Amino acid sequence: MKYQILKTNCEEEIKQLFTDVFTESETPAEGTLIGNLVEELQKTTKPEDIFCFVAIDKNKIIASIFFTRFTTETNLNAFILSPVAVATQHQKKGIGQNLIKFAIDYLKQNNVELLLTYGDPDFYSKVSFKNISEEIIKAPLKLTYPNGWLAQSLISENVSPVNGSTMCVKALMDQKYW
Ligand SMILES: CC(C)(COP(=O)(O)OP(=O)(O)OC[C@H]1O[C@@H](n2cnc3c(N)ncnc32)[C@H](O)[C@@H]1OP(=O)(O)O)[C@@H](O)C(=O)NCCC(=O)NCCS
Repeated sequence: MKYQILKTNCEEEIKQLFTDVFTESETPAEGTLIGNLVEELQKTTKPEDIFCFVAIDKNKIIASIFFTRFTTETNLNAFILSPVAVATQHQKKGIGQNLIKFAIDYLKQNNVELLLTYGDPDFYSKVSFKNISEEIIKAPLKLTYPNGWLAQSLISENVSPVNGSTMCVKALMDQKYW
């Protein structure tokens, strides 16, 4: 098993991985939605605003994760994690957590200061994310599940409040993902 940043062009393979995983874990409609999201993220995001990491086993991508730029009025170097998928037959073996930890280390070394995500606190707390309120950091769109608004600082113990409104990349600026 190898964890690495994705530099080659594997757009179709990655789209298929996300479509399959979310079809199997949720519904075919969710699979299509998330497959299309990762296609949009790869097509419409400037290279300096996106990181994709993968886990490779026997020359096949078996897990993948995206981080895209999260813009604050204070110009913090911040990224949001979304989405992540581990191939169904490889889930629950620690690969998801290891891939996220690999990515966080890489981003820390590249001077990223703050990470956000929006998801299940029980899972993301295993990789150091903590619940935050919108008084600490505003979400770019309305949160359907405020409990899932999570962050971690890569430069200090706690997440400091961030003034003003926030934005994410174009592909994620759609209420259906929030
Ligand atoms: C969620 C996901 C990325 C986790 O990766 P993974 O390799 O299966 O998880 P790991 O083996 O590293 O971690 C397993 C731990 O996380 C928990 N966990 C796994 N999936 C979870 C989920 N969907 N919700 C809450 N907790 C979850 C397990 O209970 C387990 O906890 P334990 O170690 O205390 O038993 C993966 O299961 C997946 O792709 N699921 C379908 C798609 C999805 O839900 N993506 C996340 C939203 S973007």
